[in-house]
Amino acid sequence: MVRWSCRMILTVVISAALLTFFLSFFLKTFWNASPMTSLQPTSKDLYKLISPSSYRYVLNQPDKCRERSPFLVLMVPVAPGDRASRDVIRKTWGQKDQITNIEILRLFFAGLPTGKDSHHVQMDLESEALQHADIVQLDFLDSYHNLTIKTLMMMNWLASNCRRASYAMKVDADTFLNVHCLVGKLLIHNQSPVKQNYITGSVINDGHPRRNRGSRWYISEDVYPATWFPPYVSGAGYVFSVDLAEKILWASKFAPPVPLEDVYVGLCLRILGIKPTYAFSFTSFHNLFEIRYIEYERCAYFRRVLVIGFHPAELLQVWPDFQKAKFTC
Ligand SMILES: *[C@@H]1O[C@H](CO)[C@@H](O)[C@H](O)[C@H]1NC(C)=O
Repeated sequence: MVRWSCRMILTVVISAALLTFFLSFFLKTFWNASPMTSLQPTSKDLYKLISPSSYRYVLNQPDKCRERSPFLVLMVPVAPGDRASRDVIRKTWGQKDQITNIEILRLFFAGLPTGKDSHHVQMDLESEALQHADIVQLDFLDSYHNLTIKTLMMMNWLASNCRRASYAMKVDADTFLNVHCLVGKLLIHNQSPVKQNYITGSVINDGHPRRNRGSRWYISEDVYPATWFPPYVSGAGYVFSVDLAEKILWASKFAPPVPLEDVYVGLCLRILGIKPTYAFSFTSFHNLFEIRYIEYERCAYFRRVLVIGFHPAELLQVWPDFQKAKFTC
């Protein structure tokens, strides 16, 4: 009798714990926040600094979507002088015609080069753009601090030049991207129609501002007073339905202009009442977007959309081996 009740208590406790765990996971994952109703516009001067309409195109590719609507637009922010990364991406995951009947458009986004060699860098970039027709450049200074401008510039480019595309992905140059996994597993699921208000990647739920001035990610209380960031997707790579481009641009009028581009997109999503979707593989129990470096292994990489931390030479080196994954994994 005594033993029986002990077991019962244990069962109840374990069930309660499990229920709480799943309920909180469910709420965190699927609960959609409602749009914010009391919005304070960012001051005009501050907004002018980050708004794409304050800047002019130096290089543009306005006709890319005129005659067709890509299924996926890969948008890669890159420093103007980083030709090595661009060339390797063109030969690896940014290649044309990787998937039959799926149109993928690859574009690089840059600001103006800085430093004493900037004149040469700019001349080289312009001839590279003529050769490949895949570079878009706006006339703000390209720097880590200005990445938020670059992201808004990508949203603006999509909203004004490529609205009929289905999905877009912002993806950093130093990553490994598995386009087959992205398109086949994540986006074309059971022939589902194109999603709306959809953004996915590696979701960060417990981000908070760094308050020590020495930090690369320092944010003052004046710019962002709250203790936590709303959920956001890591900037290494995130995928979204193209309808969001215009909505994020609209929300950017109200979001505090933090210089962390992924947090910034999260702030815009919070304003819109849109929660990022987790990209978790329940069959192999890991994130499809791996925002830590993992040693290259053909089949492990085959089951992921993205892995961070790749140098161009390394990417070029593993790519031929990765091509065998389709037949062996
Ligand atoms: C960002 O770009 C603007 C416009 O070109 C420039 O004035 C500013 O100095 C840049 N900021 C940084 C930190 O590079």
